[in-house]
Amino acid sequence: MAMAARTQQQQQQQQQQQQQRSVVPRVFCRTPRAPRRKRALRRQAASADMSDDVSAMQQPAISLTHLQVTRGQPGSTDAKHVLVDVNLEVGRGEIHALLGPNGCGKSTLLDAVRGKIKPTRGEVHVRVPTDKIAFVPQNPDHNVVMPTAGADVAFALSARGERDEDDGHVMKAVDYALERVRLEGFACAPTGTLSGGQRQRVAVAGTLVADAEVLLLDELTSYLDPEDAEAVLDAVRASCRGPRAAAAIWVTHRLDELLKCDRATYIDDGKVLLSGSGTYVRERILGWQEEVAKSR
Ligand SMILES: Nc1ncnc2c1ncn2[C@@H]1O[C@H](COP(=O)(O)OP(=O)(O)O)[C@@H](O)[C@H]1O
Ligand SMILES: [Mg+2]
Repeated sequence: MAMAARTQQQQQQQQQQQQQRSVVPRVFCRTPRAPRRKRALRRQAASADMSDDVSAMQQPAISLTHLQVTRGQPGSTDAKHVLVDVNLEVGRGEIHALLGPNGCGKSTLLDAVRGKIKPTRGEVHVRVPTDKIAFVPQNPDHNVVMPTAGADVAFALSARGERDEDDGHVMKAVDYALERVRLEGFACAPTGTLSGGQRQRVAVAGTLVADAEVLLLDELTSYLDPEDAEAVLDAVRASCRGPRAAAAIWVTHRLDELLKCDRATYIDDGKVLLSGSGTYVRERILGWQEEVAKSR
């Protein structure tokens, strides 16, 4: 009897559960899943034995909040706000293009991110160790310091204490990095014989071997022909997509490069005018250019 009562009770419970299920839309019954990119980042963090850093990995590597930067002597007539109320985030694994006319404040923004200049207002957060921030300036003459291309790339490794012992792993890493920027066979080339574009690529190879986690790359492609520019951009993307999930700010004037960038921000006169996916920002700028051409 007790058994029959329990079975009846169980049947009622089952019926109730079925009724409840039928009124809950199917989509809410599924266990929510993290977006694909976040899942990939978690896997990468776990495989790199960085599981404790998962929440840090999910925070943007770079956050600029209401950033204002003033250049020139404070209080003097030449002091001016070069950046005004700039908000920008770059996540782990993201390559973020930064565009705008000459003098609009792109290099100044990179200077603020790498801590070279202090904001007059707002905040800058860079969530990687300082020695994991790599900067390649626009002027290639400032990039290369060692006598040969290979020594310059290896310098980035020795700066973090790596030595080439018996297995020659530094040489292998240097050759591989040079290959990725289309400079295979250049390890012994004297730096004095390199063109501006080759110097830029040597500097990028240095950031690749050093496993930088934040890459700040200032208008590199102005010195590069389209094929070399594409190779460099691909190498930077690989750093972002790889196990380190680097975050990169890629300053450029070339709209086609936006197709390879996750997000993009257009600055004019120190203010953000436009931001969104690389494709969206490219389309909008092309639209502006068309309007200007029509109005002439
Ligand atoms: N060291 C400096 N002292 C004073 N003004 C500067 C300095 N560096 C840059 N500026 C000024 O800041 C503005 C933005 O410069 P910059 O960030 O180099 O622009 P962009 O990289 O977009 O061409 C320009 O008007 C420039 O003249
Ligand atoms: Mg600049």
